[in-house]
Amino acid sequence: MKEIVNGVFYCGYRDKERQVFDQLVPLTQGTSYNSYLIKGSEKTALIDTMYAKFDDAYIKNIVDFGVNIDVIVSNHAEPDHSGAIPKLLKVFPNARVMCSQKCADNLENMLHVDRTYIDVVNDGDSISLGNKTLQFIMAPWVHWPDTMFTFCKEDNALFTCDFFGAHYTNFDIFADKSADLVKSAERYYAEIMMPFRNFCVKYLAKVLQMNVDLILPSHGPVYKGSEDVKFITDLYSKWTSPDVSRKVIVAYISMYDSSKVMSEYLAEKLRKASVDVALVDISEADEGEIAEQLIDAAGIVFGTSMVLAGPHPKTPYVAMLANILRAKIKFYAVIGSFGWGGNLSGVIDSAFSIIKPKKFADVIVKGRAKSEDFSALDELAENIIKELPTK
Ligand code: FEO
Repeated sequence: MKEIVNGVFYCGYRDKERQVFDQLVPLTQGTSYNSYLIKGSEKTALIDTMYAKFDDAYIKNIVDFGVNIDVIVSNHAEPDHSGAIPKLLKVFPNARVMCSQKCADNLENMLHVDRTYIDVVNDGDSISLGNKTLQFIMAPWVHWPDTMFTFCKEDNALFTCDFFGAHYTNFDIFADKSADLVKSAERYYAEIMMPFRNFCVKYLAKVLQMNVDLILPSHGPVYKGSEDVKFITDLYSKWTSPDVSRKVIVAYISMYDSSKVMSEYLAEKLRKASVDVALVDISEADEGEIAEQLIDAAGIVFGTSMVLAGPHPKTPYVAMLANILRAKIKFYAVIGSFGWGGNLSGVIDSAFSIIKPKKFADVIVKGRAKSEDFSALDELAENIIKELPTK
């Protein structure tokens, strides 16, 4: 139990062993499940709790601290933060769970929390812990419909749950502002928040307007003081911007190098025109790396072998990823090679059911690319360059 400011303690857990999040994004150093204990002069509250896998040690730590829990604020019902609530209620049966209406529904459905323990709160509602006041701010869709923030007025501290989180464990309490933290927060944003970019813009503006002294997310470090708050809010301003960079992802997979040669040729052509090219071998890249690249890419080129009359199945998977993450990409193209026949781009086209990037003409060749095929790639490069911002 470490004190952050007077009466506000960190009681989370850094799970350095966790390898993957949401069974989707590999983690480079695990993640943390942050929980905060606020000891008021009259009542004690928890802000978010713990992944159930670690609930025994978490609850023991609270019990050993010698406090009674009166209030359990659940900013969001996802089990990495709410999993310990059922056991907490057994240890502290008089505690009231405070959360949004949608969170109450989720806690009941997902964790079988009895409704009689729950007090639904609305935007602007507040409770007193004595010398500390907690105010609830509804923030739906960053990143679930149930999400809210909790604001401690006396400490000018905002508990933002997943918003501003990072899959980062190399911290004591506060942000070190290292390149490693930026990378972890970026990967986190790309997977968790990017699909809700417009809502992030809305709530980022709200946070900036509040001019808080502390941002306490439920993953990663705490941001304390104006410099640290600016550090994370500036990153979110950049990532949530509607603008794209002069950047193209060339995501390729190649069985016998034909598609690889085409992809590398196109990448080089674009680089010569000062385009930032992320040449990604999707047979090796993880989803987090691709998601990170999608934050500001203007477009994506899929370079793929034909496998059994369609693209290599890993290729439409990348298109699906870009689609569900609501990437800002403006265009895409399919290039590649086949042996005897099939449809290389149809499955990729149909993957874009939500976002609607413009499509350039396919460059699909039989066997190895010949001079006319490289000319077609030159033309594709020129068309791509015309679509890019100048800098
Ligand atoms: Fe970290 Fe949406 O839970």
